[in-house]
Amino acid sequence: MDKLLIIGGTRLAGEIEISGAKNAALPILCASLLTREPLTLTRVPALNDVRTMLKLLQRMGVKVEIAPGTGGDTVTLCAAGLDNPLAPYELVKTMRASILVLGPLTARCGEARVSLPGGCAIGARPVDQHIKGLQQMGAEVNVEHGYVHARTTRLRGARLFTDMVTVTGTENLMLAACLADGETIIENAAREPEVVDLAQCLVSMGAQISGAGTDVIRVRGVDSLHGAEHRIMPDRIETGTYLCAAAVTGGEVRLRGTSAGYLDVVVDKLLDAGCDITSEKSPSFEAICIKAPRKLKSVSLRTAPYPAFPTDMQAQFMALNTVADGTAFIRETIFENRFMHAVELQRLGADITIDGNTAVVRGRERLLGADVMATDLRASASLVVAALAAEGETCVDRIYHLDRGYEKLDQKLGALGAQVKRTR
Ligand code: UD1
Repeated sequence: MDKLLIIGGTRLAGEIEISGAKNAALPILCASLLTREPLTLTRVPALNDVRTMLKLLQRMGVKVEIAPGTGGDTVTLCAAGLDNPLAPYELVKTMRASILVLGPLTARCGEARVSLPGGCAIGARPVDQHIKGLQQMGAEVNVEHGYVHARTTRLRGARLFTDMVTVTGTENLMLAACLADGETIIENAAREPEVVDLAQCLVSMGAQISGAGTDVIRVRGVDSLHGAEHRIMPDRIETGTYLCAAAVTGGEVRLRGTSAGYLDVVVDKLLDAGCDITSEKSPSFEAICIKAPRKLKSVSLRTAPYPAFPTDMQAQFMALNTVADGTAFIRETIFENRFMHAVELQRLGADITIDGNTAVVRGRERLLGADVMATDLRASASLVVAALAAEGETCVDRIYHLDRGYEKLDQKLGALGAQVKRTR
């Protein structure tokens, strides 16, 4: 199993390119299921989760072509021969986002069998809202033998209201509604930029969607969608992670191909921590630059659905606070078990106390390198951020989590001057 060896203490400096967003790429890949015509995507990140989704789609009969010489950046998918609307457990268990095939398969094939994703390290994460929405659109949905089995002659438009804001739930129902008979209104919809990116791709395929980015999305169903080309938006969580990495090392870094507009609240917190952040924008170029102070100030935060502070940045900010001046209160409101990184950060000498869904982080003068273990994707990112700030060597084990969501992490950090080595 691969590990990352990191020798901390080096000030990050230089510039790197931000990749396409994992959480936009995964639902957009599933949009290919809605049409017989080719969908060409660019800025597809080379990540294990993307490879898993491509494998799943291929298993269903989708033809996948990776443009030669693009390293996987440009992918064309064609679901003309879609013949097997089944997502088996062995693929779904490695990636919860596989549930995103449920809506489009039901809409296009009138049938889908998708394994229940089950729990994961950060909480129970049920999919009841996805199922409820499809039922309200007229599908017969049963959960049998660990599989969600949906059947319908044709989905019909409906007024849907999810009990909580759910990102993939909103995406699944929006995908399904594109081919339904009549209008679907999704209330309490997620407003995440990735939902908007998916809507833009679907609109370019001929879907009739309005309101994406607000909490009410309207989809007028059409009989068929056509092929299109779409460029995936930049990854705002990858962007935020490198901003934190630069911040904890007192660094000065420029991130190309990304925009502060996608992460206002994260940028605000970094400004509160004492960092200087500027944006560059021209019609053909975007970048964010960060210049960090020698000593950061601690910043408290509370996670909540977009546009509030993203749960996917909570762990990285916990790492940042471990070396900041003062005490921070971090409240997690989305997932019930998302402080697994705290005990690993403590191994590096961090002063963290957990009380229910609140972590109290008292900043230390320094952290010391140690062996730590990653438990989920963003927890792993927080360990890397802390390791970059720590004195001496840190070995981060189980980095397959990082490979699910960060493209070329070791190479990008290396390009910024970090001392990082991947070993077995
Ligand atoms: C997505 C993101 C993930 C991010 C999360 C919250 C993708 C591929 N993943 O995950 O990176 O951390 O949003 O921003 O985009 N819930 C239910 N029933 C449901 C659906 C959700 O109870 O049917 C609960 C979840 O357990 C959780 C909350 O709702 O407590 C929000 O989860 P949700 O937004 O659905 O997360 P994901 O879409 O799985």
